Amino acid sequence: MDKTIDFIRDKIGNFEPEIGIILGSGLGDFADEFQGKVIPYSEIPEFEASHVEGHKGQLVFAEVCGKKTVMMQGRYHFYEGYSLATVTYPVKVMKKLGVKILIITNAAGAVTKEYTPGDLMFITDHINFMGTNPLIGRNDDTLGTRFPDMSEVYSKELIEKAENIAKKLNIKYQKGIYVATTGPSYETPAEIRMFSLLGANAVGMSTVPEAIVANYCGLKVLGISCLTNYAAGTTNNPLNHQEVIDTANKVKENFKNLLIELIEKVY
Ligand code: HPA
Repeated sequence: MDKTIDFIRDKIGNFEPEIGIILGSGLGDFADEFQGKVIPYSEIPEFEASHVEGHKGQLVFAEVCGKKTVMMQGRYHFYEGYSLATVTYPVKVMKKLGVKILIITNAAGAVTKEYTPGDLMFITDHINFMGTNPLIGRNDDTLGTRFPDMSEVYSKELIEKAENIAKKLNIKYQKGIYVATTGPSYETPAEIRMFSLLGANAVGMSTVPEAIVANYCGLKVLGISCLTNYAAGTTNNPLNHQEVIDTANKVKENFKNLLIELIEKVY
């Protein structure tokens, strides 16, 4: 960790990010809007190169509406074969760099029939269906406790702020529970029926590991899903990644406007 932090500090000088943003599938372009210092993951000690389509794999340090941010253009996914320690390492790095608030975004399938592709969903809670936990292993007491509370992983205050902004900007949004699977295969219709019975509103392959670690180390978290498709079996159409990227692209403008105002008003 010290090597990582020294390397990054050497690149960014006295820039101290306070807001971290993880940009999900199809949403990475947001960071291109801002002038800043770009560091590819491949150059950072202890980071690994990320390979998923639609993900660039770099940290962008930039000022947005006068707030100092660090944005992840692309994230590590469990399905790529990385351990959850690798997947969540950047969150710990952000914490060490001084980040207080983490905005986590993703593309997700709509489990709830009334939720439609193109809607944004503010995550109120999650179900970890990955079958493992990013905190397994020796605990680093400097970051958090062994058995961290998870009763409010997603900040109610930030959700309320996000809702107010979405209303003002006339952006259609939902609130709901995100269930995380490992992927990379999409779910079966039977699995989606099960998730629906369990109370999940959206399904995806990310976010939960990062949110668990962020909450563990005391970051305030806002999770935003871009609902890109109806989950398997809720329509007759088969799923494909292109549909996910295409819908995310359509939502980009709304997403950008919401995020900018959110950053401006977050504190
Ligand atoms: N399932 C899982 N992950 C996803 C989906 C989905 O339907 N859409 C976007 N990411």
